[in-house]
Amino acid sequence: MNKLILSVVLSIVLMACQNSTHNKQADSIGQKVEKLLSQMTLEEKIGQMWQVNGGYGHDDNIRQGKIGSILNDVDPQNINRLQKIALEESRLGIPLIIARDVIHGFKTVFPIPLGQAASWNPELVEQGCRIAAQEASSTGIRWTFAPMIDISRDARWGRIAESCGEDPYLTSVLGAAMVKGFQGDSLNSETSIIACAKHMAGYGAAEGGRDYNTTLIPPRELRDVYLPPFKAAVDAGVRTFMAAFNDIDGVPATGNEFLFRQVLRNEWHFDGFVVSDWASPWEMINHGFVADEKEAALRAIKAGVNMEMATSTYNDNIKVLIEEGLLDIKIIDQAVRDVLRVKFEMGLFDNPYVAEENQYQFAKPKYLEAAKLAATQSMVLLKNDKNTLPLSLSKKIALIGPMANQAYEQLGTWIFDGDSTLTVTPLKGLQDVFGKDKVMFAEGMAISRTRHQKGYRKAIEQAKKSDVIVFVGGEESILSGEAHSRANIDLPGVQNDLIKELKKTGKPLVLVVMAGRPLTIGAISEYADAVIYAWHPGTMGGAALADIIAGNANPSGKLPVTFPKEVGQIPMHYNHKNTGRPANLDTWTQMYDIPVKAPQTSLGNESHYIDAGFEPLYPFGYGLSYTSFVYSDISLDKEIYAKDDIIAASIKVKNTGEMAGDEIVQLYVRDLVGNVSRPVKELKAFKRISLNEGEETTLTLTLDVNDLAFTNVAMERVVEPGQFELWIGGDSNATLSTFFSVK
Ligand code: BGC
Repeated sequence: MNKLILSVVLSIVLMACQNSTHNKQADSIGQKVEKLLSQMTLEEKIGQMWQVNGGYGHDDNIRQGKIGSILNDVDPQNINRLQKIALEESRLGIPLIIARDVIHGFKTVFPIPLGQAASWNPELVEQGCRIAAQEASSTGIRWTFAPMIDISRDARWGRIAESCGEDPYLTSVLGAAMVKGFQGDSLNSETSIIACAKHMAGYGAAEGGRDYNTTLIPPRELRDVYLPPFKAAVDAGVRTFMAAFNDIDGVPATGNEFLFRQVLRNEWHFDGFVVSDWASPWEMINHGFVADEKEAALRAIKAGVNMEMATSTYNDNIKVLIEEGLLDIKIIDQAVRDVLRVKFEMGLFDNPYVAEENQYQFAKPKYLEAAKLAATQSMVLLKNDKNTLPLSLSKKIALIGPMANQAYEQLGTWIFDGDSTLTVTPLKGLQDVFGKDKVMFAEGMAISRTRHQKGYRKAIEQAKKSDVIVFVGGEESILSGEAHSRANIDLPGVQNDLIKELKKTGKPLVLVVMAGRPLTIGAISEYADAVIYAWHPGTMGGAALADIIAGNANPSGKLPVTFPKEVGQIPMHYNHKNTGRPANLDTWTQMYDIPVKAPQTSLGNESHYIDAGFEPLYPFGYGLSYTSFVYSDISLDKEIYAKDDIIAASIKVKNTGEMAGDEIVQLYVRDLVGNVSRPVKELKAFKRISLNEGEETTLTLTLDVNDLAFTNVAMERVVEPGQFELWIGGDSNATLSTFFSVK
């Protein structure tokens, strides 16, 4: 037998053994669940379906087996105390699961998820979540409400900060990495925290970008755009889901049987459990979908939401719903079975307590290093005229701006436990790298929303004395995140005016933006010689930024979301449809250039804005480097592919600059003719590569022909035979392409 056959046979045998171990374990968990379930009273079952807020005031309910989970307790002593009551004083000794929003780090804060997505680095993202899990689990937390994998095409929506951006594929890959990072290798390890794919589904499509707003998502778009990341999370082994706040075409997600019964359970065979969002069953009354709490509980349970967060519609109503024959006990049994199964998988029955000695695994040097690398790889260089950056260490810097020394604000949204005393701000970072004598600091504005000019004078004086101005602005963390949508997404306060004043000094100006969303910085960028988009970069943001500014690190982030020029262009995403009258730069005339009394049809009738055009400020996937990469020789291993084939696309990439750097090589596909119209481009594969100056490599990206599937008119998921165009390049405007067919 040759070596290849031998290794294939061995891996089959190994997989069979692993499967049988897994099945045995599953069997024994299944048996334990059934045994326990058979001993439970209805009240105890209802208890497993209730998650309450805070670790105090619930002792009696826990003792009576009326609570299944607690969110928002981070005190290990109290967590152990509550767990002891559950284990030793309740009749059946069922442990609690302790939950917390650990979204982008715990004490050590990583860049906001949108920033991490700009790294296009699944390994790094996984590592960040692993570290967050290690820190959080050392306080007794064993469940996080992340990853948030809502496709977000609207920068007005404050929760775009928590997302991985606009692309289903990038979000799927990074969401899966987050699940793996949080959950680790084994659910029953004490450092594993179970992940929660949220918010199922369509929350990011909130009309007008206003949080909690209604959504109108055509069923096909739901299938092809909004649901794929959730399916990827199931494939990655995620153990819980969260129901979204929004309604979809009139049906609140929390009462949506299609989402949770049909898709999640029947089609995807998910066997973990679903938690509501905060009070979301109860909020169905506000939606006007149910009349009262009793009906709210009924609809949410019937839809497949196993556990209610915060409110008590389940606790107060399930018993009477059963007694009145409106709810079948079998549905309750199934809901509880799912919760118990996960508790057994987590090993909570055998190992319920958090170690109180050697506690608090926080902010270890290697965690801070990882957070710095994540921040470095997430920063996107948007502009660098005349190689303004990097700056030589001899330069005298005037550091100005309302985010230049804000230890708390740069951490971003959802940092309940983040420790801002660990923060390295841009001021500290630049002082460390350039030396204290090289950095003159004047904030110019106290906060990003400051509306007066009192700080201008000092800032301008400093600028005059400097060789270069580094302006660190953006938006404070409270301006993005849940319920923090904005209708105007410019730099707030008087930042634009200050930048213009500073530019009058004639000094080169580097604009650094720390924000939770894309901001409309097109016009103000004209005053900047270089622009770095740093998102809310977390604990180590200032250190990462200083390394980039000094050229100790070469920027490599790429935008995970399209940057519009004007808020009125939203929604704007690269994977749009072509329309019957696609826009065309050759025929587009800017509004102010249109001749007076021009005849109605003289400008051409195309899909654009006469003021803002049709192009974004920066396209999806965009980002510069201090070096340059040239793509050539695109080729495919075949011209015609069959279903189940793997397409291997090769490309040469050369670093033609004078510095080593990372490039994110992106592969896009267009299905040229479809049974329904297809997007102009869809990301199907990507790879982060490192190349030394002058180095050239040929790399091969692969995709499965089945990844070309979409939902057709008959709502079937199909790969249609026909012609496809395939591009490879450094952003979604890639032009180097080739064609293939699927038979
Ligand atoms: C948010 C969720 C979060 C939950 C618990 C809700 O308001 O929508 O994303 O996990 O609160 O804090």
